[in-house]
Amino acid sequence: MTDLPQLLTDRLARAFSEVAGDHADPAVRRSDHADYQADGALPLAKKLRRPPREIAAAILNVAKIEDLVAKAEIAGPGFLNLTVADSALSRLVEEMAADERLGIPKTTEPERTLIDYSGPNVAKEMHVGHLRSTIIGDALVRLLEYLGHDVVRQNHLGDWGTPYGMLIEHMIDIGAGEAAAELSVGDLGAFYQAARRAFDSDPEFADRSRRRVVLLQSGDQETLALWRLLVEESARYFEAVYERLDVRLRPGDIAGESSYNDQLSSVIDELVQVGLAVESDGALCVFPEGFDGREGRPLPLILRKSDGGFGYDTTDLAALRYRVRELGAQRLVYITDMGQRLHFEMVFEAGREAGWLGKGARAEFEGFGIVLGPDRKRLRTRAGDSVKLIDLIEEAVRRATAIVADKAPHLSASEQQEVAQIVGIGALKYADLSNDRIKDYVFDWDRMLSFDGNTAPYLQYARARILSVFRRGEIDPASIKGSEVVLTAPEEHRLALRLAEFEGVLHKAAEGVELHRICGYLFDLATAFTAFYEHCPVLRAEDEKTKTSRLVLCDVTGRVLATGLSVLGISAPDRM
Ligand code: ARG
Repeated sequence: MTDLPQLLTDRLARAFSEVAGDHADPAVRRSDHADYQADGALPLAKKLRRPPREIAAAILNVAKIEDLVAKAEIAGPGFLNLTVADSALSRLVEEMAADERLGIPKTTEPERTLIDYSGPNVAKEMHVGHLRSTIIGDALVRLLEYLGHDVVRQNHLGDWGTPYGMLIEHMIDIGAGEAAAELSVGDLGAFYQAARRAFDSDPEFADRSRRRVVLLQSGDQETLALWRLLVEESARYFEAVYERLDVRLRPGDIAGESSYNDQLSSVIDELVQVGLAVESDGALCVFPEGFDGREGRPLPLILRKSDGGFGYDTTDLAALRYRVRELGAQRLVYITDMGQRLHFEMVFEAGREAGWLGKGARAEFEGFGIVLGPDRKRLRTRAGDSVKLIDLIEEAVRRATAIVADKAPHLSASEQQEVAQIVGIGALKYADLSNDRIKDYVFDWDRMLSFDGNTAPYLQYARARILSVFRRGEIDPASIKGSEVVLTAPEEHRLALRLAEFEGVLHKAAEGVELHRICGYLFDLATAFTAFYEHCPVLRAEDEKTKTSRLVLCDVTGRVLATGLSVLGISAPDRM
């Protein structure tokens, strides 16, 4: 393990418990006054009713930290200011350098984690919300897999419901071949709108559509075949988007709403049996505990509508049971916009009451904010339509192409094209991931593609620059493996500190689905590297030992940047 803040925490925790006579959190964090500070003496003093500085002194007295900490001081009301020993730091960096996984072991307690993300709707345009879900979900998949967890990807496609009557009739009217062509190239919005128009303006069409829904639900073969075509063509288009985005979702990850059709009645039976399902206004409902609507009336999940139909609630209850019982999920993470929070909180509570969640399985809703346009309103096209996902992707690459041509004229045309792909898609993803997930963010092409600031291009460039040091010096990074790290300049010390924080950041990000922590960390690291690189000559270092030590710092930094980006689903070009 190379997680320095955790090492400090573990060590101090022993001293804290000794003084407290019980477990107490040392509360270690980065500090402006030293490398770290531990603030835990203050709450502990309150608990023990003793002066905090006295507690801090007592802790320092018993703490065994000499090998990690060069200087420990009591400051202010009772903070502990800690300066990390260079010897400890260089040991940690050496450990990272020697290991392919940068000293980050795979977890010894892998959790079967199911991630529900992307979830676009068939024959409907994928919108920016689906982009967020796809990007965040993909990053979480990669991060958890990197840490050694057993990840199950689930794409809960919206592929069932009453609109299919009208969509199928429209498909029949324009001919299946034409429909397939429109859908597979992603004209989903236009297709849907044309069907809608016919439905609203032509009573005969509306009639046919209603009859078609009944046929679909009763399992009419011809209708099912048409429906399947609709689903397949849309899925083909989604597939193309995923590939373009370089996300790991595959056709095999699709388990759409329709895949739970034959489980719905058994789910309802079970909920009736355990006494959770009750009749209300002709519908069959579950009222999970603790959810009240207007005038304190309990809010229902609707299992069966009064017309006998099943909806989104029923499907999600079935999916939850299936995921726990059949797929063996221990942690379930649902990633959609914040608007669906209530729905999922209610489904989870019902799941707990039904005994599906609880012992051995927990579910969490990880919602996200809205993508805003420059006017701080929901991002739309100039014409006021919702933005097509594929257009965003194309534009990102188009803009990156111009920037790369400008910044990297030394690359061949084909290299430039390749780099532009990586930079464009990387910028788009990073702009999303670097913002606190739950907040709205403003979509800003210029900012996300800037080579300055907390952006993908900045980090990708920093990493390419590190590789160029090795190229210029004609040094194979493998040849410095196992070399000693000596930290003398303060910039070296600070860079090493950041390196030894990587592992802990990954764990924290995985726990809370807080990918922006990784982004913020990588940005800090790149900044520390820049300061190091400005003050500490590498290839022209004063002696051979200093040179190899600095090369090790470069190598580890480059690998941390590449690994950090890769768990976010972002590649890093070797040259740019
Ligand atoms: N299809 C839904 C939408 O577009 C998202 C599905 C989310 N997952 C789920 N299990 N309901 O909003």
